[in-house]
Amino acid sequence: MIAPASVERVLDAARIEDIVGDFVRLRKRGANMLGLCPFHNEKSPSFNVNVTGNYFKCFGCGKGGNSVQFLMEHEQMSFPEAIRYIADKYNITLEEVDASPEQKVEMLHREKLLEIAAYARKHYEQELWETQEGKNIGMSYFKERGFLDTTIKKFQLGYSSKERDSFAKKAKLDGFPEDHLQELGLINKYGNDFFNDRVMFTIHDISGRPVAFAGRILIKSENSPKYINSPESEIYKKSKVLYGLYQARQAIRKMDDCIIVEGYTDVLAMAQSGIEHVVASSGTALTEEQIKLIHRFTQNVTILYDGDPAGIKAALRGLDMVLEQDMNVKIVLLPGKHDPDSFIRESGAEGFLSYLEQNASDFITFKAKTLSEDSKNDPIRKAALIKDVLESISKIPDTIKRSRYLRECATLFDIDETLLVRELNQMLKKVNL
Ligand code: CTP
Ligand code: MN
Repeated sequence: MIAPASVERVLDAARIEDIVGDFVRLRKRGANMLGLCPFHNEKSPSFNVNVTGNYFKCFGCGKGGNSVQFLMEHEQMSFPEAIRYIADKYNITLEEVDASPEQKVEMLHREKLLEIAAYARKHYEQELWETQEGKNIGMSYFKERGFLDTTIKKFQLGYSSKERDSFAKKAKLDGFPEDHLQELGLINKYGNDFFNDRVMFTIHDISGRPVAFAGRILIKSENSPKYINSPESEIYKKSKVLYGLYQARQAIRKMDDCIIVEGYTDVLAMAQSGIEHVVASSGTALTEEQIKLIHRFTQNVTILYDGDPAGIKAALRGLDMVLEQDMNVKIVLLPGKHDPDSFIRESGAEGFLSYLEQNASDFITFKAKTLSEDSKNDPIRKAALIKDVLESISKIPDTIKRSRYLRECATLFDIDETLLVRELNQMLKKVNL
């Protein structure tokens, strides 16, 4: 742990113009400095750096704070990360005070695992770019799917060779202990590689460190799953990671929206077409922790799933969770057998974006559309549907938002609003009991 005295020294040393200046081009304006705000889109500068007061403030979007807050907000650093960044810049040696012995052991262990994951990432990339097998098989596969070098590099894609133990052999030779390699699921209990003959997707944490991998099979097979994934470990908790978030975070902030898709390749295809504010839930149900991660960057979420029953079900589940976090959610289903990857390939980025625009619906409309097909002339079913929508509305913490949706619901279903209010209050009472 960083000693409180060291934190003080860092806070004293930090000059706002230095820290902000690392990321934003600033111009002198009287005693202060001015630049284009990195937190919202603007053409004329309203982002003010107050040198005497040692803080920043944007008169456009209202964001403001000190150096640490700037780093936390702009770079999504944690508090200790921001302190370390500044200490580094000013050559301040940080004094560490005692973490408990257990904490120390755990920290050390995590560091080791992260080091191995980074090593493995490099290995799979090398196999893709530098070996004949990697080039012939892995790279041709990616190329066939239309992925460009820049995309392959940006997402640190790789290849795991057919050889049974090419990674294991090298890693052990380089001194990585077998138990740690096993802990990350990179080798199995027989000492062989877990990933063989697959193209590799690196999964990063929010600061861009590799924490896990997914390997995709190259030819369709009845016996092996299309994707295999690293098991959970001390550095990889599935429910707390979103694929692509590290690469997408700036774009999410800029667009003030985060599109959630299901698959790894959907993220790649969209990012490559210039739609960069995309992350993947990786085929599993969204979790509260994932939503909270997104919330650090934006209040708005667009769920973009396949239009099949499984996709609809997944979208419905994700929806209530987003509402509970007081975020706004839109839902788009893709037509026919498309996933975002195939759809964008067929219709191009422009067509894709206009499809999104025309088909994004808020949750009430979405529920009404997907659940109401067969309830039109059936009063009992209609009542059940309205109840369902009300359930979702009851999840929204913000009362003003809640009443706005209530009104929409009343109009859409052509039903007396006071009736809905009464019903909703009943529901809320039940929850609060
Ligand atoms: N998935 C998984 N394990 C599987 C199948 C799927 O983890 N056996 C996850 C992956 O994250 C995958 C997502 O679910 O990206 C969606 O699955 P799917 O639509 O089948 O794959 P795509 O992403 O479309 O992959 P591809 O385009 O390569 O076929
Ligand atoms: Mn696909």
